[in-house]
Amino acid sequence: PASAERDENGALRLGGVGVEELQHRFGTPLYVLDEGEVRTHARRFREALESAAARHGVTAHVYYAGKAFLSGAMVQWVLAERLRIDVCSRGELELALASGADAALLGFHGNNKSTTELERAIEAGIGTIIVDSLVEIDRIAEIAERRGAVQPVLVRVNSGVHAETHDFLATAHEDQKFGFAMPQAPEAVSRIRELPSLRLLGLHCHIGSQIFGAAGFAESAARMVELHARLSAEEPLPLLNLGGGFGIAYTSADDPTPIEELAEAIVGAVAKECAARGVPMPDLAFEPGRAIVGQAGVTLYEVGTVKPVDLGERGERVYVSVDGGMSDNARPALYGAQFSARIASRESEAAPALVRVVGHHCESGDIVVDHDYLPGDVAPGDLLAVPATGAYSHGLSSNYNHAPRRPVVAVGDGRARVIVRGETIADLLARDVIIAEARDAAE
Ligand code: LLP
Repeated sequence: PASAERDENGALRLGGVGVEELQHRFGTPLYVLDEGEVRTHARRFREALESAAARHGVTAHVYYAGKAFLSGAMVQWVLAERLRIDVCSRGELELALASGADAALLGFHGNNKSTTELERAIEAGIGTIIVDSLVEIDRIAEIAERRGAVQPVLVRVNSGVHAETHDFLATAHEDQKFGFAMPQAPEAVSRIRELPSLRLLGLHCHIGSQIFGAAGFAESAARMVELHARLSAEEPLPLLNLGGGFGIAYTSADDPTPIEELAEAIVGAVAKECAARGVPMPDLAFEPGRAIVGQAGVTLYEVGTVKPVDLGERGERVYVSVDGGMSDNARPALYGAQFSARIASRESEAAPALVRVVGHHCESGDIVVDHDYLPGDVAPGDLLAVPATGAYSHGLSSNYNHAPRRPVVAVGDGRARVIVRGETIADLLARDVIIAEARDAAE
């Protein structure tokens, strides 16, 4: 985070709190989230997208995609910054509601929302349900009708533009599970229009994640406007939701386009296409997740062992083992995601060594940082900081190898507080019925 700085002894401070204090109070591995930085990103995204929309005479709603990281504090921060929230499961929905979110400000996603989930969402008065199949349209209509409600919905469409991380591909046929293919979208729209318990707000699309440039977004927006214009001929569709996917820098190799530029390019593409087709510009919605929380998070680990491995002609690689790994950050194992590392507890003048930071799990794919350089004197007891772990790390964490999930600590203005408590071994054993039975019998 921007607040990271070194103290007079060379130790890192996050949000004004020293890493040794953090380790002492909360242990490692530790997810550290800089509250000020989350709020800055949330505000910046909302302002950039709202002002780009305002320049074209429409409104933009910004939903924080809760799948990136969700907790009571996170909900309060994004609501305070006047974002809405996108949820995609019963758990995320309940968490947002229990944290004080107004159901009307929530959007609900998913390709197979259960009847129970839909009942609960509609009962709570959810703002929008993004529909993903014909089956679901009838399911939502039936529940809304039974409850005497009129449920606002969006139709998720596959624009055929597929973001391949730093690049994009546009294909005629998308072979994946989400949304309606473009040729099927009109049927979904007509079906919704026949059902009095549903109110169609417009269309939705999401082209992928960790996207750096405007081209894919703009191409997708143009295709969506073409469809939007055709379907508006019958009856105007007031809203177009263009999803999330805005990329962040995980390492120095990553160079995402600033949101102000992306916002102008995307909204500009919608405006241009609307003008060409002679249709009024719809209001817009966006769903950034990673870009709000990713860079505000750092994971702290303690180094346990250091082991040089001879690579022959290619020199040497030092395996630096830390006390966490794929259970607290699955992204390297799942996606081959790249991260970086630095020694957090001190500064060093030692010559850099090629390292691979690995976890303590029983699996060779258990990598935290695939390749980076650390001072060659990196040693057991050093604290390592891995930046940009605020998104999809805690959320994808697991109990693999019976590892208790680690706490999340919020820092800011020199203070630190736990916002999600860690699990204990007792928490883990408590789920085991046989152990509980044996314990009861012994008592
Ligand atoms: N809207 C929809 C409909 C989505 O499916 C997603 C992400 C988002 C918004 C937010 O995307 P973001 O702005 O965060 O890129 N676990 C993967 C990422 C999965 C993204 C799933 N959908 C990762 O760690 O890279």
